[in-house]
Amino acid sequence: MLLTDKTVVLGITGSIAAYKAADLVSKLTQAGAKVEVIMTESATEFISPLTIRSLTARPVVTGMFGQSLESAIEHVALAEAADVVAIAPATANVISKLAVGVADDMLTCTVLATRAPVIIAPAMHTDMFQNSITQDNLVKLKARGFIIVGPVYGRLATGTVGIGRLAEVEEIIATVKQALGRSGDLVGKRIVVTAGGTQEPVDPVRYIGNRSSGKMGYAIAEAARDRGAEVKLIIAPTSIPAPADIEITQVETALQMKEAVTQAVTQADALIMAAAVADYQPRSAAKAKIKKETADLSLELIRTPDILAEVGGNLVKVGFAAESENVVENARSKLEQKQLDIIIANDITDVDSGFGTDTNKVTIINRDGKTESLPLMTKREVADKILDRVVGLLSPKH
Ligand code: C5P
Repeated sequence: MLLTDKTVVLGITGSIAAYKAADLVSKLTQAGAKVEVIMTESATEFISPLTIRSLTARPVVTGMFGQSLESAIEHVALAEAADVVAIAPATANVISKLAVGVADDMLTCTVLATRAPVIIAPAMHTDMFQNSITQDNLVKLKARGFIIVGPVYGRLATGTVGIGRLAEVEEIIATVKQALGRSGDLVGKRIVVTAGGTQEPVDPVRYIGNRSSGKMGYAIAEAARDRGAEVKLIIAPTSIPAPADIEITQVETALQMKEAVTQAVTQADALIMAAAVADYQPRSAAKAKIKKETADLSLELIRTPDILAEVGGNLVKVGFAAESENVVENARSKLEQKQLDIIIANDITDVDSGFGTDTNKVTIINRDGKTESLPLMTKREVADKILDRVVGLLSPKH
């Protein structure tokens, strides 16, 4: 329930993509948000207010003076209640009205009256989007602090392919969370997160890798973003899609990860290393594919640098210890060795913990000895627990 207690005012305007707003409403509601929907008159031609009302279990505002109004000043009421306003899909028409401050319906009135962040997810035909009038209007809105998400390239309702498709619902939700994070407890903090598992090349075809899925690191990056941090995510190869609205650097090997981390931390308040970094790499990668022979093959492996141990500076350092025995003791000695502020220990022999799962059962250990064994949780919940500790350390140190 990541959006519990949050009021999202969602404006739906008259684009064919309006049907996707139903999915957006459903997912925001499932995430715990109170979703107040305002539909323009033309939006109601594309999708029924009944569909939306069935999903939110709340009245849908469809007109300035319609029977759905609870009071004559509802535009101010919704504007005040909103933690965030999102318009998805947003037509060229509503964008142009907002750019000049026209307030001739409930949606534009609400936007003009709100102090909440406003997200605009345009969806329209490529030519309308690329028209310099629309482009100028979007530039104006951006300059005033509106957040624009999408549109993206893809197939349009007209059957053509081009820019103009509504951003993916997941991306719009990520933007909503990011906008809400503007008042979060990590605002103004710069956090570097690593995720995934490094791959050390043996030859152009093969590598030595590990089973890290990247899910824990992604969850931390998203949670930090949603709490207002400026996040840099350094990703070693994973098979899951990267989170939206986060600056990403892709790397392959431990050495590349070291370079990326060293560069990123110069400006950072915290480094959270969730990546599974190879401890060894082949001494040299063969230039050509190694041919199969009848004889056995030996690979000479050399140590990779311990990135966490080598990174210094005035920043909170957080590491992970994936252990299969003496979990807490081993994690504590790693915390000492690598001079960490926090270490997260997990027992990879637990079925619901560790590599590839959506859940994790961890023990969080602070440098001062404070140790908390958490029950089985989603990786996102674990991420927030870790960040609670990071927040506690950031204030006095930074
Ligand atoms: O020593 P061990 O590999 O168990 O330590 C795990 C922690 O150290 C993780 O946070 C991992 O990201 C980090 N690490 C590192 N550089 C390495 C190996 C691990 O920063 N070469």
